[in-house]
Amino acid sequence: MLLNLILLGATASALAPLERTDGKILLGAWYDRNLSDTPSAVNARIGYKPLSFFQTDVDFSGTLKPWTSPQTVIPQFQQQLKDTNTDAIAMLTVYPFQGLGDKISDAQLKDMGDRLNGLVNSGRQVFLRFAPEMNGNWFSYGQDPAGFISTWQRCIKYWRTALGSNVNKVAFVWSPNSGNGYPYPGGESWPNPNSTAKFDLDRIGLMDTNRNGKLDPLDNPYIPFYPGDEYVDWVGISIYHYGIEWPWVNNSIPEPQKFERYITGYPDNGDYFGYFPFYTPFSTPAGATNNITNTKVSSGNKPFIVSETAATYHFAWVDSTTPQATLLQDHTRVEIKEAWWNSFLTQDFISRYPRFQAVCTFEFIKTEELTWRDFSAFGPPPNPSGVNFEAEDQDVANAFARDAKGMGFVAWAKLGATNGTATVTASATGALIDNNKQQSGSGKTEITHIVGALLLAAWIRIMIA
Ligand SMILES: *[C@@H]1O[C@H](CO)[C@@H](O)[C@H](O)[C@H]1NC(C)=O
Ligand SMILES: *[C@@H]1O[C@H](CO)[C@@H](O)[C@H](O)[C@H]1NC(C)=O
Ligand SMILES: *[C@@H]1O[C@H](CO)[C@@H](O)[C@H](O)[C@H]1NC(C)=O
Ligand SMILES: *[C@@H]1O[C@H](CO)[C@@H](O)[C@H](O)[C@H]1NC(C)=O
Ligand SMILES: *[C@@H]1O[C@H](CO)[C@@H](O)[C@H](O)[C@H]1NC(C)=O
Repeated sequence: MLLNLILLGATASALAPLERTDGKILLGAWYDRNLSDTPSAVNARIGYKPLSFFQTDVDFSGTLKPWTSPQTVIPQFQQQLKDTNTDAIAMLTVYPFQGLGDKISDAQLKDMGDRLNGLVNSGRQVFLRFAPEMNGNWFSYGQDPAGFISTWQRCIKYWRTALGSNVNKVAFVWSPNSGNGYPYPGGESWPNPNSTAKFDLDRIGLMDTNRNGKLDPLDNPYIPFYPGDEYVDWVGISIYHYGIEWPWVNNSIPEPQKFERYITGYPDNGDYFGYFPFYTPFSTPAGATNNITNTKVSSGNKPFIVSETAATYHFAWVDSTTPQATLLQDHTRVEIKEAWWNSFLTQDFISRYPRFQAVCTFEFIKTEELTWRDFSAFGPPPNPSGVNFEAEDQDVANAFARDAKGMGFVAWAKLGATNGTATVTASATGALIDNNKQQSGSGKTEITHIVGALLLAAWIRIMIA
């Protein structure tokens, strides 16, 4: 008995914050707060059960994108989560746009620590994805392994101390970019191989894992940036399907194992699926060894989150003078998106990857490269394109809600778990009815919701009939 208690204690204390032990997976959404989308609206669009977490971005500097500063976003996010009337987890993606090291002040650390405590004290658990995609070079803090690791350790140490007994409610997520395309030559903070500056030579020295004197696609894109098991609760990457072939313009069904190959690595096709394994070194007992220092940097076994994912639907050219007919639309929105979620939201998949415990969809419509792209999986998000396809997108939401009924392994949020202001009730069919009509959005958003609600009502009637 005593032994059992001791073992139980040891097991319990070895769990990471937010780690699951029931074999279920958390499903979340990153919603378009800037276009007045809300967690409640996402739940209403799905019309089935409420999502277990929501993600939003925060500019830690407060100056590059002041409308996403911690003081603007976090209180708004807290209220929006409360409005869902569920116990949904808050996922904060915090970008240190001010740079690393002493560019981050103690006052900024303290302010974030206070806000994390505020979220926890309001009843929230938190994923904090700090300095994501640090192995990329499109942010000021990119491709600087030494600077990143020391900054990460300082910040996480500070916040854990500030959290005190709240610390087991906040999971710190280390989330590099998926390795396809690494080392992504030419970005803002890429160390030019011709540079003789010490800073660049030092960085190349730390990233050149095959030790051939240069940064190239055969260097491991993850391990040089790992801050150490002690400082990391969860590990994650982002996984997108844009199409089969660059430039991503055709609407193609994702290759059957694409999602899986991103996490396992796929040596035969490094450009598309990332050559190097992610799940094995960080989320199995195999662990990770740094090839330069020949030291084991991780014992593995960390819970794994896909921090962002989507299969995109290309629906218009960014350059409106391109003849629209030349955009090949050979597969429907539903076919592409359903094939995508069915490639990882299956009992078989999550059983084979037991540390895969959370996944977040990207609910945006935006331009990238040559095309306008609909990333959403859960129905019509705010649409800045001017092209109307709410009906098709509601088909996607309905397909998801239908498939979700077979997903007994998804951990949905609990309704009524906090005393929020919105009235979100489960109907007899298990669908959600969102009565919260005081969304702060524009009239257009209101109409979107009403159209969505009508379609949902029609769909429920079909399901009952
Ligand atoms: C949306 O982004 C713009 C800048 O692109 C900003 O001026 C505006 O305040 C943002 N709106 C919200 C609601 O965050
Ligand atoms: C619930 O309401 C009580 C009383 O108004 C408040 O003290 C508490 O913080 C609320 N809890 C949550 C999770 O909002
Ligand atoms: C590095 O220098 C060589 C020789 O001058 C040049 O051909 C190459 O384009 C340079 N590479 C970059 C990335 O600037
Ligand atoms: C490790 O370094 C050796 C050279 O010392 C190299 O041949 C090998 O490819 C490297 N492995 C990885 C995974 O980078
Ligand atoms: C798009 O599809 C067409 C027709 O199958 C094909 O000829 C073309 O190569 C594809 N383009 C890309 C970028 O995939």
